[in-house]
Amino acid sequence: MTQNARIALVTGASRGIGKAIALGLAARGFDLVLNDIAAQATPLDETAAEARAHGGRVIALHADVSDKAQVQAMVAASVAQMGTLHAVVNNAGILRASDVEHCPEEYWDRVMDINAKGTFLVVQAVLPLMKAQNYGRICNIASIGGKHGAPEQAHYSASKAAVMGFTRVLAQEVGPYGITANCICPGIILTDMGRVNLDDPAISNAWKAKTAMARIGDPEDVAGPVAFFCSNDSAFVTGQSLNVDGGIVLS
Ligand SMILES: NC(=O)c1ccc[n+]([C@@H]2O[C@H](COP(=O)([O-])OP(=O)(O)OC[C@H]3O[C@@H](n4cnc5c(N)ncnc54)[C@H](O)[C@@H]3O)[C@@H](O)[C@H]2O)c1
Repeated sequence: MTQNARIALVTGASRGIGKAIALGLAARGFDLVLNDIAAQATPLDETAAEARAHGGRVIALHADVSDKAQVQAMVAASVAQMGTLHAVVNNAGILRASDVEHCPEEYWDRVMDINAKGTFLVVQAVLPLMKAQNYGRICNIASIGGKHGAPEQAHYSASKAAVMGFTRVLAQEVGPYGITANCICPGIILTDMGRVNLDDPAISNAWKAKTAMARIGDPEDVAGPVAFFCSNDSAFVTGQSLNVDGGIVLS
């Protein structure tokens, strides 16, 4: 077995949970390929600079994860510049709120394209090299919304349920090659996306009341569990979807 997973790709790493994951992995000694869309170039560069302060190699690559050609080019550039990838964190995602009756078809398509197809495309691009090296850690960021869900998020919930189903089958296909595939399901986390659930103090307080830990999550709360799935400590854990939600589903 590879002595330690050293090089990780994190998608959607310019801000929020992806940024916290990147910095958490950097603090644990990972070298990093950080991805986001070109429009996020400046904050992505800032994340990369913060990650570099931990001493590892860090590069930033722009790609829309829903575009196969861009994803293939990103993985090729990762290999050309870093040598290989040991771990991949599929974090890039979007939320477009609408009830089912009025949901524009475009919302459904874009949410599914980025959250579900984007995960598939990145995994498909890295599998040949992970199989060849007989080692890989794949961590897909789903959501408690994919297990439960809230009104006006049916299409988002469907996309995250798709990621979990995809991951369960992927784990079976790639296990013989020393590759694990797991999901993290964040709860309510304070990010630009999370604010949809939190802007109204009444809603925010209602979420706190439903949460065993009695608080809203911080992006950093997600980083440790992701690092576990990217490490050798989780070598015999695969096909799982771990809630990182402060205990919302317990109450
Ligand atoms: N915040 C929450 O409460 C919460 C809860 C559960 C799950 N999640 C999931 O966590 C992940 C991160 O969410 P966040 O809250 O940090 O959101 P965010 O909106 O703050 O960050 C998402 C990042 O993904 C990037 N991105 C969007 N489309 C992309 C594309 N096509 N290609 C590459 N990058 C793209 C964005 O530019 C952004 O940097 C998402 O998958 C989200 O669904 C978030």
